[in-house]
Amino acid sequence: MSRPHRVTASAPAKVNLYLGVGPRRGDGFHPLATLYHAIGLRDVVTASRPRSGGRRGTEPVVSVDGDQSLLLTDVPRGPENIAARAASLLAQQYGVDEPVLLHIDKRIPVAGGLAGGSADAAATLTACDALWGLGATQADLLDLAAELGSDVPFALLGGTAAGAGRGELVTSVPVPGDYWWVVARSREGMSTPAVYAAFDHTPQGAAAVEPTIPPAMTAALAEHDVERLGAVLNNDLQPAALGLRPDLAAVLRHGLGAGAVGALVSGSGPSCLFLGRDQEHAAHVAGRLAEDVSADVLVTSGPVPGARIESKD
Ligand code: C5P
Repeated sequence: MSRPHRVTASAPAKVNLYLGVGPRRGDGFHPLATLYHAIGLRDVVTASRPRSGGRRGTEPVVSVDGDQSLLLTDVPRGPENIAARAASLLAQQYGVDEPVLLHIDKRIPVAGGLAGGSADAAATLTACDALWGLGATQADLLDLAAELGSDVPFALLGGTAAGAGRGELVTSVPVPGDYWWVVARSREGMSTPAVYAAFDHTPQGAAAVEPTIPPAMTAALAEHDVERLGAVLNNDLQPAALGLRPDLAAVLRHGLGAGAVGALVSGSGPSCLFLGRDQEHAAHVAGRLAEDVSADVLVTSGPVPGARIESKD
């Protein structure tokens, strides 16, 4: 069977329905108890072989495009790009000694608290595994993903999943039904380490204990009780994120005022999330947010599948 010369894979953005954060560990990371949920916004990565006679060297070459409102200039193009790191790690693990071109079509807000970089890494692992015909198992890829970043394993898995450790230990939680979300994007990104550092200095951070996922959240999901889920959405990083970006409080308030059944900052922010009762209701909330606070909004649903191949040729 001939190997493909180009493989395109995609991976989803994540939200944390529950993000419980414990006290900083010795290695600088924080223990998490989280419920991840993949939503229908996907970055798309195409991995291909350079034409023969082209460049030498085996370092991955990255190019990026996408919606220009997405802070694309903040995405590194060199070996430090997380997609390049993913391809290099996979190549090193399997003894692959050939160059690869990675093209990232960004659709997930950059530095938005939606794990867009993690999606790029997961899509790259999936695309390069197929490009190089490695036949890695999902368990193999999950191990490599964990080395790349705390949220990368979940981007491979998708759906809804519990996350433990620093977020890298993921277990699927099958849940019935869909949920409709409004995502309010921000024009400025936020640094995840800065938000975790700020968390350490909040009263909540200072008093943090080993986190657990509350049974009420698991029950709301099992019963597909949208109103109850809205009431138990929680992000322990939110006070820290709002401390750094006080303007987000008004966005959250307006979304709730517009009837959202729940509202929270996504992960380390600054994207804000609003849960609608259904698609129509989410569209209504989005319309009000756009009108009242000129929010840059989109409506999407979850859960959706994790990283997957879109095409090969
Ligand atoms: O794992 P990842 O590279 O995404 O983490 C980025 C940064 O976020 C870490 O360097 C750390 O400062 C912070 N972080 C943390 N605890 C976690 C996950 C991330 O403190 N569980």
